[in-house]
Amino acid sequence: MRTVAIAINKGGVGKTTLTKHLGTAATAAGLNVIILDMDSQQNATSWGKRRSQQRDEPLPVVRFVTENDLAEELERARAAGCDVALIDTPPGRSAEAPAAVEAADFVLIPFWLESDAFDGLGKTAGLARRLGTPAVGVLNFATPNSRSHEDAARSVLDALNVSMSPVVLHRYEAYRLANPKGLTVQEMEPDSRAAAEIAALWEWLSAEVQLCTDAQVQEGAA
Ligand SMILES: Nc1ncnc2c1ncn2[C@@H]1O[C@H](COP(=O)(O)OP(=O)(O)O)[C@@H](O)[C@H]1O
Ligand SMILES: [Mg+2]
Repeated sequence: MRTVAIAINKGGVGKTTLTKHLGTAATAAGLNVIILDMDSQQNATSWGKRRSQQRDEPLPVVRFVTENDLAEELERARAAGCDVALIDTPPGRSAEAPAAVEAADFVLIPFWLESDAFDGLGKTAGLARRLGTPAVGVLNFATPNSRSHEDAARSVLDALNVSMSPVVLHRYEAYRLANPKGLTVQEMEPDSRAAAEIAALWEWLSAEVQLCTDAQVQEGAA
C-alpha cells in the first residue's frame, strides 16, 4: 500500500479537493482506496457520505481519524488489501499534518500564487525533507488560458528548492458545482479541461508512487 499525505497549513488551497479527486481517479483505475480525513471540519467525510448516497459503483472509503489512530488505521487498511491511502489534513498549526507527513511515502502540497501559501509550502516541504519523504507542490487555482501563474510559481519553487508537479490545476467552476452533489469534476463535466487536468495529475502521481492499475497490469501481461 502506498500512502500519500496532502498537506499545507494554509486553508482553502485545495487539500480536500485534491484528496477527493485523486481518490476517485484511483478508484476508477481499479484500485482499492481509502481516504483518511484528519480535518475536524470533516469536509472529505461529508462529501463521501453525500457520494455514497448517490452512487452504487466502487467508491473510495472515507474515514475520519485523529493522529492517535492514524498508524492503526493505516495498518488496518493495509491488512484489508488497500492499494492506496490518501490522507487529508487540516489547515493551521496542528498535530495531524506532521503525523500525516511522517506516515506518508509521498507528500502533495497544494498551493496558489501568494506569498502566504509559499510560507506554508516551505514549512511542509521542510518537514518532509527532514523526514526523508519526497514532497511536491501542486499549483492550484491558476488562471485558465494563461501561463503566467505557472511560470511564476515554477521560479519561486525553484528558488525554494521544492519540486513542482508537471500538471497544474486551473480555476474552474465545475469544482464548486460538483462538491454538494458528492461528485468530482470528472463526473460533473467529463469532457472539461478540469477533468483532463485531474486525469493527468492522477497519471503522473500513480507513476511517481509506483501504483499499478488494472489496465497497466493487463498491458504488462499481454
Ligand atoms: N481549481 C479549482 N477551481 C475552482 N474551485 C476550486 C478549485 N480547487 C478548489 N476549489 C474550491 O475551493 C474551495 C476550497 O478548496 P478545499 O479543497 O476545500 O481547500 P482546503 O481543503 O485546502 O481547505 C472549495 O470550495 C473547492 O471546491
Ligand atoms: Mg480541507
